[in-house]
Amino acid sequence: MTDQSKKQKELSQQRFSRVADSYVTSQTHAKGEDLKFLLEMADPQPNWYMLDVATGGGHTALLFASHVNRVVATDISVNMLQSAEKFIRSKDIKNVTFEKAAADQLPFRDQRFDLVTCRIAVHHFPSCRDFINEAFRVLNPAGRLLIQDHVLPDSKADGTFIDDFERLRDPSHNRAFDCKEWQSMFTAAGFDVIETRQVTKRHELNAWADRQGCSADVKNELLDRLKNGSPQVKGWMKPEGLDHDNPSFINHHLLILGQKKGSPGKD
Ligand SMILES: C[S@@+](CC[C@H](N)C(=O)[O-])C[C@H]1O[C@@H](n2cnc3c(N)ncnc32)[C@H](O)[C@@H]1O
Repeated sequence: MTDQSKKQKELSQQRFSRVADSYVTSQTHAKGEDLKFLLEMADPQPNWYMLDVATGGGHTALLFASHVNRVVATDISVNMLQSAEKFIRSKDIKNVTFEKAAADQLPFRDQRFDLVTCRIAVHHFPSCRDFINEAFRVLNPAGRLLIQDHVLPDSKADGTFIDDFERLRDPSHNRAFDCKEWQSMFTAAGFDVIETRQVTKRHELNAWADRQGCSADVKNELLDRLKNGSPQVKGWMKPEGLDHDNPSFINHHLLILGQKKGSPGKD
């Protein structure tokens, strides 16, 4: 592991361990049409063994638990795992187990799982490619990988602005990718891309910044950046209420489903 990769993981662990419970209560994570889309795309089966990587508050593990045989929920932060476990147990769900793991070093044998999911987390990982390769390794020959994460516009300059904006709010934001990059990472790892969908999520700037414990100075700087973004960036982030009490903006998510190339029984 490089020093850079180690630092990135330590930063994520620190940041998320401080604010674990806020990711259980976050409406951005607990709600949204994206949850319905994930189920439709994965088409989970009752005999499936599933791995949810970077489970955070546990919303994806909870969503799938009643549709599959067993879910293993992993995260790099033990505090996050404890919050997710408390939340999922409170729903009387018994087929989810919890295990600490970094996304690029999954402590599971080859071909163990039918489905790997990872929702709104890859932008924190030191290497998305290393995670996708690990997911490929732990999936069985017909296995499916379903990722939801931020997606950037095609313009590199606008993408850099958005990554910097996200990093100001949460320094453990490493980087996001555009659609083409997502597709090529799946293909390079050995997956066929079966389906993609996109959703947007509107965030109230103050609640979004508070979830990561931002200071008043950081919140002001975020607001200034939204006000001063280029017309292209504003067209993408669609800010509203910038001169009122409750400014907001949207981010875009890609949902991407891959299946191992040459999978038995694949159309
Ligand atoms: C926004 S939360 C995930 C939300 C969750 N998947 C859901 O559906 O509600 C991001 C999570 O990624 C985890 N994380 C960040 N870097 C990681 C890494 N390298 N390996 C595993 N987990 C990581 C954090 O600890 C945090 O719990």
